[in-house]
Amino acid sequence: MRTRKPVSKGVLVELKRFEARFLSVIGASARDISEPCVKVVEAGGKRLRPALVIICANLGNKTNSEELFLSAMGVELVHLASLVHDDILDAAKTRRGVPTINESYGEKQAILIGDYLFGLSFQLLSDCGNNSLITPLASASLFLSEGELRQRRDLRRLDQSVHDYLDRIYAKTAALFEASCSMGAIIGGLSSVDQERLREYARGLGIAFQIYDDILDFTGDKKVLGKPTGNDIREGTVTLPMIFALEKNCLELAEAIDDPAQEKVEEAVVAVKGCGAIEQARSLAKEYVEKAEAAAGNLRESQGKKDLISLGKFVIDRYH
Ligand code: FPP
Ligand code: MG
Repeated sequence: MRTRKPVSKGVLVELKRFEARFLSVIGASARDISEPCVKVVEAGGKRLRPALVIICANLGNKTNSEELFLSAMGVELVHLASLVHDDILDAAKTRRGVPTINESYGEKQAILIGDYLFGLSFQLLSDCGNNSLITPLASASLFLSEGELRQRRDLRRLDQSVHDYLDRIYAKTAALFEASCSMGAIIGGLSSVDQERLREYARGLGIAFQIYDDILDFTGDKKVLGKPTGNDIREGTVTLPMIFALEKNCLELAEAIDDPAQEKVEEAVVAVKGCGAIEQARSLAKEYVEKAEAAAGNLRESQGKKDLISLGKFVIDRYH
């Protein structure tokens, strides 16, 4: 996380405690399971979803409770399980600059590690003894799989609309942000009106986050990204910058999606960057951050509200 502190000191302290607990829970499994799982956790990540659970619970003055840590771990584990499976599906060799689990241990082992992380998330959640926390995470898990299935179904399809894309990224990314806020709000005992405000906030933030992530596939630095640029073109995943570029008849892109040879992908990346599609995608992402901010704006004044708004700014800042 760059110069701007994305959240207040109190949340950072809770996140630090979360991290220590998380590693000790993961490390407690049998050795052949814990070694790859610890690698997944140690590869890092921004822990945005646990931060959302913590901030939303804090809004109801709930801090540092066992229920809070278990729920934050549950959410992060579903996220990590989905990344392990995503890397198998994409045959990705690196993530966050380190070898993926499929690269280090083989595909079959990686499938089972992903399954284990997914199972563990619901085991921890059931340890909370609060059934209402299970529903949002189970629903987000279904959306995640649905989003990924839709993405595979639509590979290399050039006739996708912005609407199709937004539906898909709600499922594959924003639904888990929504579950994180929902669970935090339940733990914090917030009113149903505030719970809905937080879900709306999360949908906006999650959609903006995924749009910026898809922009980074064109504009990012390979070293910072920990993976090569132009990956989405190579895989045939048609993202928002590509939809806008295709609307502008970007022939280099259409050709590279059809035949992703390295030099064609490189030409297409340059063409997409040159045709104004990135700026257009950035501006739609900004609208979603603004929607998120507006939803959070209706909450009562508190540190948690400031943290939510600051997270929105952080998502934008990451990409400038
Ligand atoms: C990464 O996004 C991947 C996802 C957000 C979701 C992947 C979901 C699955 C594989 C379904 C499995 C579901 C469960 C519940 C375990 P990306 O591919 O856009 O980003 P990347 O470039 O970092 O891979
Ligand atoms: Mg992927």
